[in-house]
Amino acid sequence: MATTDRSRIPKFYKLSVADRVRLMRERGWLSEADYQALATGDHTLKIHSADKMIENVVGVMGLPVGLGLNFLINGKDYVIPLVVEEPSIVAALSSAAKTIRQAGGFETDSTEPILIGQVQVVDVPHLGRAQALLLQRKQQILDLANSLHPQMVARGGGARDLEVHQHLLPDRKGNMLVVHLLVDTRDAMGANLVNTMCEGVASLIESITDGKVFLRILSNLTDRALAKAKVVIPAIDLSGKGYDGEQVRDGIVLANDFACIDPYRAATHNKGVMNGVDAVALATGNDWRAIEAAAHAFAARSGRYTSLTRWYTGDAGELVGEIEIPMKVGTVGGPLQSNPTVALNHRLLGVESGRELAEVMAAVGLAQNFSALRALTTDGIQQGHMTLHARSVAMAAGTPPELFDTVVERLIEGGDIKIWKAQQILLEVRKQAGAPTADTHKTTGTDVRTAGHGKVILLGEHAVVYGSHAIAAPIPLAIQACVQETESGGVQLIIPRWGIEYRLQRDPAHRDSLQRSLGIIFDRLGLIDRSLRIEVFPNIPRAHGLGGSAAMAVSIIRGLDHKFGLGLDDAEINEIAFECEKVAHGTPSGIDNTLATYGTFLLYRRGKKERNPTTKKGSSPPKADTAGQRMSGDGRPRGGPGESGTGTRVRKAEGLGTQILGK
Ligand code: MEV
Repeated sequence: MATTDRSRIPKFYKLSVADRVRLMRERGWLSEADYQALATGDHTLKIHSADKMIENVVGVMGLPVGLGLNFLINGKDYVIPLVVEEPSIVAALSSAAKTIRQAGGFETDSTEPILIGQVQVVDVPHLGRAQALLLQRKQQILDLANSLHPQMVARGGGARDLEVHQHLLPDRKGNMLVVHLLVDTRDAMGANLVNTMCEGVASLIESITDGKVFLRILSNLTDRALAKAKVVIPAIDLSGKGYDGEQVRDGIVLANDFACIDPYRAATHNKGVMNGVDAVALATGNDWRAIEAAAHAFAARSGRYTSLTRWYTGDAGELVGEIEIPMKVGTVGGPLQSNPTVALNHRLLGVESGRELAEVMAAVGLAQNFSALRALTTDGIQQGHMTLHARSVAMAAGTPPELFDTVVERLIEGGDIKIWKAQQILLEVRKQAGAPTADTHKTTGTDVRTAGHGKVILLGEHAVVYGSHAIAAPIPLAIQACVQETESGGVQLIIPRWGIEYRLQRDPAHRDSLQRSLGIIFDRLGLIDRSLRIEVFPNIPRAHGLGGSAAMAVSIIRGLDHKFGLGLDDAEINEIAFECEKVAHGTPSGIDNTLATYGTFLLYRRGKKERNPTTKKGSSPPKADTAGQRMSGDGRPRGGPGESGTGTRVRKAEGLGTQILGK
């Protein structure tokens, strides 16, 4: 295999984890020992090693290691280990690297790997004189620093230069000198080494300046260790998904202009860059906090925070992308070796120096930025979320792991991301594979969807605060729910459209606010021991004041009522939904749950809580309002869905005093 094909593995993502690891060995990416370690899971950090790394250790936490493929950097092929929890990053990187390799790959460069140490000197009697003396005796200071680390000097590194800066202290508290020791730390990140040097030269600096040394520590603004990467992509290579190449190129350039000008956008843009950079930093045991600090300080070096990358149109109409980023990273050193996964990742990546690693990381940052901008200027980032949605739906359809990626892929291709569709695909795939076609989920009953209404305030949204009336209208079918019995145990809630999926904790103490709301329903209806999957289909956006939480509660309560024939009436549904609203909003008005339940127009006035001895405590039916409307005598609203309607036109909102117009 040509060396430049090393990282090309079409359909790698379709393999099982075991097959991927086997393939890595076949390709010669892994030694037999590393293969065994990965295949058996023996490569991970052990608790006794963890206990020596930090204090108060009680466990070890895992994160996925994925492979970034297709990277061609300065003509060399790389397989890049990435440690990250966010979906889509690894896929986006591999896809960007594929486009870029077709265009010749990345060109990278870097400065010498210089780390700055800072020595702060205060109470200096003659600043100018002290500065001149320090510069005169520079070599003596550097020699002293180097004598503290002869091995670094033997490896070709060491203290190289010295700079002296004068600063005015805030609030006119005088001046200070700051000595910068510029140290080439070669393949080590070098933090400890530089700190030792700064401490070691402190007395000499005091004697030269007649001042007093205060802080002695490295700087994380590592702008003397810069890595650069560049790509040039013919516009034609950018076409796809209904966009021609020029459109995509111009979109990327415009998106980059936005980040160059606007710090709000720049922060997000650079976060995307760091999605890739940090994933390599974690995989290779580098200090990602230091890298983050450097990147953002560097992005603000002009006095205004801006983009770390630049995208522009080249002379021949091609898209040109560049990144320049501080990258003081190491390939040697204790912290890097203490984690066996880190050591394995280094062997897999195969870089030979800290600078090479820094350049690879710059290329990864640029690739990640390219893929984010390409997605944002074409499908929008929602396409990625569509994948997440499709994965949830495939899971909800009971897709087994070996067919998972195929089903997800076909769901996305077909565009109809629904559970029934996933089940249909699953059947087809199983038939094609000659496998038994049994449904692993085994649901019972039909997939009936029950609904809760949303709300929109038509009039008086603000005036209502001062005691005036407000009129609210229902949004039909705002949220729908489908309740199915399963054999998997427990209650599972899935909202594919919002990427939400969790199991309801049996112990209320372990429930978050969404779970507490759901928990109220199950506790009240005595269904907590059931094995159920509840799929929710929102047709309104989240957290937009459209009554989504109440609509969801009502849709689920109605779903459970339907599934188990509980015979709940609207007032009972409304009351449980109101309890859920209390969890979601503290002191809800009662409008949302009432509209979610009854789905009729509602006239509301704040704070008129009226008592009625015939009703339960806290359940306060309104009197007829000024329009002369009536409530039913038992305090329960009448004429709602499912009732015959006796001409009653007034509803009560569960909760505070509320008057509601009927249909
Ligand atoms: C998400 O993790 C990163 C993005 O927001 C980056 C960007 O907006 O450029 C997609």
